Amino acid sequence: MRAIKRRKAESRAKDLCRYTVQGVTCRLGKRCGYTHDIDAYRKSKPSDIKGSPCVFVNASSKKCPFGVRCRFESSHAKLTKMKSEHQVEFAVNLLDDSMQKRLRKNEYPFPRSDSELRAANLELKCLSFAQKAKVDRRKGYLGASEPGGAHKREHGTRLSFKHKIYVAPLTTVGNLPFRRICTDLGADITVSEMAMASNLLKGDRKEWALLRRHPSEKCFGIQVCGGYPDLMSRCAELIDNEISCDFIDVNMGCPIDGVCAKGAGSSLMRDTDRLKNVVRTMTGVSSTPVTIKLRMGYFDDPSRYVAHDIIPRAKKWGAFAATLHGRTREQRYSRLADWSYIHRCADVAVANDLPLIGNGDVYTYEDYNAQVADSKLATCMIGRGAIIKPWLMTEIKEQRHWDISASERLEFFKTFCRYGLEHWGSDSMGVEKTRRYLLEWMSYTHRYVPIGLLERNVVSKLHLRPMRYIGRSDLETKLASDKLEDWLDLSEICGLGKPDSSFKFVPKHASNSYTKESADAAATWADEGEENG
Ligand SMILES: Cc1cc2nc3c(=O)[nH]c(=O)nc-3n(C[C@H](O)[C@H](O)[C@H](O)COP(=O)(O)O)c2cc1C
Ligand SMILES: [Zn+2]
Ligand SMILES: [Zn+2]
Repeated sequence: MRAIKRRKAESRAKDLCRYTVQGVTCRLGKRCGYTHDIDAYRKSKPSDIKGSPCVFVNASSKKCPFGVRCRFESSHAKLTKMKSEHQVEFAVNLLDDSMQKRLRKNEYPFPRSDSELRAANLELKCLSFAQKAKVDRRKGYLGASEPGGAHKREHGTRLSFKHKIYVAPLTTVGNLPFRRICTDLGADITVSEMAMASNLLKGDRKEWALLRRHPSEKCFGIQVCGGYPDLMSRCAELIDNEISCDFIDVNMGCPIDGVCAKGAGSSLMRDTDRLKNVVRTMTGVSSTPVTIKLRMGYFDDPSRYVAHDIIPRAKKWGAFAATLHGRTREQRYSRLADWSYIHRCADVAVANDLPLIGNGDVYTYEDYNAQVADSKLATCMIGRGAIIKPWLMTEIKEQRHWDISASERLEFFKTFCRYGLEHWGSDSMGVEKTRRYLLEWMSYTHRYVPIGLLERNVVSKLHLRPMRYIGRSDLETKLASDKLEDWLDLSEICGLGKPDSSFKFVPKHASNSYTKESADAAATWADEGEENG
């Protein structure tokens, strides 16, 4: 432990302080863990990445915020003289220092949540007794308060899911640069990766980073996860006050043990009373519409499915819409989603005036049509289909198959890298983050089998497995590889240079997390999709 800390401190000491980069004197002086000596920094800085220009230097702001730290620094001088074809548009929903401090010290007031809880006779348990007493003494917040329900505005006139192309919340893969690719390709609605309500309320920077929204995300939701009304209503009040978004989605489907153990995610499906209190208090404090994302139930036994019972009541609790993933928690990703159950729920949803969004295994525009046309669903939400082939959005919009070429696919990766450097930064840290998220994405995309090969019968159904076919070009074959060396080669071709020698990578879904089975299930989708016509 100590050795790791020491190594980290040593590598920090060689890295340049961010204030020095901006030409400002660092307030921390000698106590700052980073160096303020530009010349010394230059000596240890890894060499510049050649081949692509810095993403920040453009016609409008001719200055790269990463300055000397930028790994594309040598292009700065040249670029300021030319007009760039793209402009950087910065994301919103940042956490500033003063907000972080207020949250950490419990100085942020939640009057609507407090009164909503009191009205429903629910306790505030997410603060300790000591914290509550301190907060109350200092400001008299708890108990003084704005009425909850009265805050509700007539919402919903602008927000609509009807026949919209809606990309699912996707932890790790559904980051901001990826969502930009989706909107470029036709997605109408995007949503953040799942953020834990408790961490948002603590002012945790990593969690707040999940809330960032790019200006191209025209209709954007924040997905939050938490199991109790006090926590979730505070979180809704915070987001409603501080965050730019069009809706707040409550995660009621996450199967991860650690999340369920906290009473959150799909474990809410086991306790519909608590689920009701979560939704009612959230909608009571928030003028931003609140939506819920359900599974069919927690248990695999069909007699214990609960979604059909929750959906008709959700409208009364104030929910604006619901999404239903046609699987249970126990089932995770085994078997295909149960669309006949989803359609049954759509009938009750329509009868109760609640838009219902169906979700599960939509991989072609025909899948989308089959579920949405002549149905009572508002639309389908698209998860792995968007990851594996983001041009699915275009296919749905334009109602056609797109036999995409390998170079077109490579272009999406290149664009992702540009968006990634804009988002995570063009210094070493940003380059490596961009690379990691690119590799996470590739751990799904290599499973794509080009439709042209299917049509030509170059691969038979039995062989629809990664790396069992030879592409129509070397690049197409490389894109189908499941080998890390090939993915790293691709990341180099996309302008990220080579990783340093200590670089290690294990895809998230191969280690733990949300998607252990989902990736394997996705690997077989093509066979199943074909069989289902
Ligand atoms: C990589 C990955 C990450 C996911 N992260 C989330 C998440 O953060 N929140 C959530 O509600 N669902 C999450 N899901 C579930 C999807 O939103 C979706 O409900 C599920 O994958 C079924 O849709 P699909 O068959 O179109 O993939 C995730 C799924 C995958 C594959
Ligand atoms: Zn400093
Ligand atoms: Zn730069």
